[in-house]
Amino acid sequence: MSDEAFTLSNARLVLRDSVQHGWLRVEDGRILEFGDGDPTGPSLNVGGDYILPGLIELHTDHLEAHIEPRPKVQWEPKAAVLAYDAQIVGAGITTVFDSLRVGALTHRDGVSKALHALASAISDLKGAGLLRADHLTHLRCEIATPDVVEEARSYMAERDVQLVSLMDHTPGQRQFRDMDKMRTYYQRHGLTSEEDFSAFVSERIEMHARYAQEHRKALVRLAQAQGAAIASHDDATLDQVAEAIDDRVSIAEFPTTLEAATASRAANIKVMMGAPNLVRGGSHSGNIAAEDLARAGALEILSSDYVPGSLLMAAFDLPRRVESITLPQAVAMVTRNPAEATGLSDRGEIAADLRADIIQVAVHDRTPSVRRAWRAGARVF
Ligand SMILES: [Fe+2]
Repeated sequence: MSDEAFTLSNARLVLRDSVQHGWLRVEDGRILEFGDGDPTGPSLNVGGDYILPGLIELHTDHLEAHIEPRPKVQWEPKAAVLAYDAQIVGAGITTVFDSLRVGALTHRDGVSKALHALASAISDLKGAGLLRADHLTHLRCEIATPDVVEEARSYMAERDVQLVSLMDHTPGQRQFRDMDKMRTYYQRHGLTSEEDFSAFVSERIEMHARYAQEHRKALVRLAQAQGAAIASHDDATLDQVAEAIDDRVSIAEFPTTLEAATASRAANIKVMMGAPNLVRGGSHSGNIAAEDLARAGALEILSSDYVPGSLLMAAFDLPRRVESITLPQAVAMVTRNPAEATGLSDRGEIAADLRADIIQVAVHDRTPSVRRAWRAGARVF
């Protein structure tokens, strides 16, 4: 399929700096050329729809909803991956970093145990040519847990990892500075009684003292040895940003304060926020709103986090919410910027010679919807 050649016409092409009405030609899986007005020769008329680069998603935990559709119910891994992949590409995402967690967060954590089964399912299906999106790996490492370094080491000995994030969800800091929000969050994960919650909090604080520092350094070394990009997670203070700079982090995932976000930006660390935060108008953990960061010029990447469809919604919503941001700039936050932050130089923009990862988007009553998608020139949706 990737050697197919075709031309799209009557398109609103979302380019680096402008939206241009015109046509686009694909050959051998690449964008050959594009221009104003009408093309010569036969073409597929897209009826004035937008043509965007395929979206690039760096941090989605949505696979977990498919592998464990109900608490303690494990779904067959290949079936879960196929359903997830269809949803991802239907949301306009042609490159996805599947977020897999290492380091058990609670004793009830079933997702981490499914890690190897899931990774095998993804690589088997990828090898068989059955996945629609391009699947890469984001290993999410909960640093203040006993087994995280060993799990990450054994995973990376067997499989490629393109992005490693360093997370620390110890109570009273970073994402969970607000303990009431933390209590609500963990109730959903089965910690319903006050006694259980208090015991969990004490245990986590003790684990932080014992493991966080040493494990973070070991994980940074592992990531660097494999050439994976590194993300810091939920940075809140200038000290935490300074540590991220030391660790040669390229992405600040979900900084929780304006101070941490602007300091990251100043240090050339790309600031990523959740698209659901933007679409909903605030953070579910009570931290800083993505829209406020965008207004301050500190927002560079959006991630769909827990709702795949939020990525495209946010790209179209952001210019309506923040006047200083154009549609091409908002689209760059879900395409070119995440590509740059992870070293993917072959995609992320409508430009000659780049991979023909392209989506056709209709906007109806302010809601964007994906009509067609191509990955390396092959139709995948
Ligand atoms: Fe977090």
